[in-house]
Amino acid sequence: MKRIAIFASGSGSNAERISTYFAENQSVSIEFFLSNNPTAGVIERGRRLGIPTVIFDKKTFSKTDKIVNLLQNQEIDLVILAGFLWLIPENLVKAFPNKIINIHPALLPKYGGKGMWGHFVHEAVVEAGEKESGITIHYVNEHYDEGKVIFQATCELVPTDTPDDVARKVQALEHIHFPVVIESIIAEQ
Ligand code: GAR
Repeated sequence: MKRIAIFASGSGSNAERISTYFAENQSVSIEFFLSNNPTAGVIERGRRLGIPTVIFDKKTFSKTDKIVNLLQNQEIDLVILAGFLWLIPENLVKAFPNKIINIHPALLPKYGGKGMWGHFVHEAVVEAGEKESGITIHYVNEHYDEGKVIFQATCELVPTDTPDDVARKVQALEHIHFPVVIESIIAEQ
């Protein structure tokens, strides 16, 4: 049995998608969600899905071993970041080498780094007049959006696309590919 924990700061549509994808899979279990945001949509999704959400604050996350201890005590095999906005501290990266996976809503190395999340990414992509965007799934290290790339998928953009249009195209790619890529990572472990 592979045990997964999913971090999310916002709506949690990817967290839900991953959870429903593996719901019938006897060898993968989504143990819990974790969020820094007590009003995040992911909490309600978790309630609906029967998956508990652990809420934590900045100090607990960045300055203590509590989250690392929780993940280790619960024998988590793979940590997924699905719209999680805080930098992962060194103790967590070291405790789960090559076992923390992030999804980024653009084609890294473009449009990554601190402050590049959600709609800010899509606004920058439209502003630059890009002809395509997409998703990047990558391993996580101590720097924002710099870990080794595992998978990318692209979508075409047209000049009339607004940031919301780009967001919709990118989210469709995320929901299709993220669970499948996670499944293939699990198969290789
Ligand atoms: C997703 O588009 C994800 O790629 C992005 O946040 C969104 C979360 O959506 N992540 C980042 O921007 C990280 N830099 P969701 O809450 O509906 O899954």
